[in-house]
Amino acid sequence: MTPREIVNALDRYIIGQDEAKRAVAIALRNRYRRSCLPPELREEITPKNIIMLGPTGVGKTEIARRLAKLVEAPFVKVEASKYTEVGYVGRDVESMVRDLVEESIRLTKQKRMELVKDAAAAATEQRLVELLLPQQKKQQRTVNPLQFLLGSGQPEPEEPKPTEEEQQARKTLREQTLDRLRRGLLEKEIVEIEVEESVSAMMFGASGMEFDMGGMLGDLLPKKKKAKRMPVEHARSILMQQESEKRIDMDDVNREALQNAEQNGIIFLDEIDKIAGNANHMGADVSREGVQRDILPIVEGTTVATKYGPVKTDFILFIGAGAFHVAKVTDLIPELQGRFPIRVTLKDLTEDDFYAILTQPDNAITKQYAALLKPDNVNLSFTEDALKEIAKFAFRANEQNENIGARRLHTVMENLLNDISFNANGQHPMIDVVVDGAYVDAHLSAEWGEDNISKYIL
Ligand SMILES: Nc1ncnc2c1ncn2[C@@H]1O[C@H](COP(=O)(O)OP(=O)(O)OP(=O)(O)O)[C@@H](O)[C@H]1O
Ligand SMILES: [Mg+2]
Repeated sequence: MTPREIVNALDRYIIGQDEAKRAVAIALRNRYRRSCLPPELREEITPKNIIMLGPTGVGKTEIARRLAKLVEAPFVKVEASKYTEVGYVGRDVESMVRDLVEESIRLTKQKRMELVKDAAAAATEQRLVELLLPQQKKQQRTVNPLQFLLGSGQPEPEEPKPTEEEQQARKTLREQTLDRLRRGLLEKEIVEIEVEESVSAMMFGASGMEFDMGGMLGDLLPKKKKAKRMPVEHARSILMQQESEKRIDMDDVNREALQNAEQNGIIFLDEIDKIAGNANHMGADVSREGVQRDILPIVEGTTVATKYGPVKTDFILFIGAGAFHVAKVTDLIPELQGRFPIRVTLKDLTEDDFYAILTQPDNAITKQYAALLKPDNVNLSFTEDALKEIAKFAFRANEQNENIGARRLHTVMENLLNDISFNANGQHPMIDVVVDGAYVDAHLSAEWGEDNISKYIL
């Protein structure tokens, strides 16, 4: 994707914030450009990490998340403020890389599963049919080893072959069962399948160790198999899982996932301003600076050991984000600043932006509510002036109370549609509910309107 295409794709979900969109689009394209270079040169070029500055709820996380989704890059979002310096209680900074690898494994596995989906589904169906058929009398085929070696094809008299009719009958039964299974008539039938009992990670939970003991030991200890009876509807997903895993080479997945995490991974470091030193509080500064110093090597490029193997962090893209109300970017230790050469500022959202956010994005909140109420036979729609009113109310609420950005739209909409959401129950024929300006006024003015402004001016 060209940078312009990336920006266009982001435009489908995020309103405005062009500067930030451009910056991430360029960073992404640079990865592609880099991958085209000869290896010696490629090794030299590390990503230009980005810091996004901007108030809460204006799209920082959303842009990064969408970006990662767009290109199916492994992505994790971590709060910089929850890390502590090595030696203190808390999460150590390397865990962010391990999280990224886990995510990468998940993505790769999911992709492979998708590839084998049809084959696995067919095999699952066959197994279910087999389980549902009445057990054939077990005729132990005792092959005489001598006979076997000599390759004599002498028919064994004590084991009569099923007759033509028997075979035919069984085939018909099989077809009928398959047909009924496909028509969903056998979902409640009980079948017995073998499930793997994973070694309980609980045993280790209490120790409070960060280490994934269950996972580590789980790979070492032999898996216990256990027969379990359950309805077809449950058995299907377990068999599907088993059949998929049979068709996937996990070593291959690990290798590809590690590579993908190294080359295409994105780590979103939220609240990076919270670990910036603030000259006045000496006490807190020490550990904040400590965290920055711990993060530094990871951003600069180091190798982190994970349970899937070592991971180089040199080419992972880091996107820092923070409001930077109190601390400034320049309060970060210079080495760290230097590793985030690109700064973009996200703007406060305007009333017009709110209006656009309500309607335009593919996942616009008005569309979400409409979709959510459909199953309860409510056909929800909004008039133009209703949307204008909602945007206005949300904007004013942000001015009068805390400015929580676009998140305000969610609270406003929730308030607005509270009655409808509560009363819709699906026990009525499809009804059209049109939310118009008057409805918005009536429902929101009590909450945020002029009459009540005094409530907020104490
Ligand atoms: N510019 C925008 N266009 C569309 N939706 C937006 C925009 N900004 C924010 N939103 C919506 O608002 C919500 C919060 O946005 P987001 O998580 O990106 O905030 P943020 O900038 O990361 O804030 P914080 O600093 O609190 O983490 C999301 O549901 C997002 O879809
Ligand atoms: Mg955020």
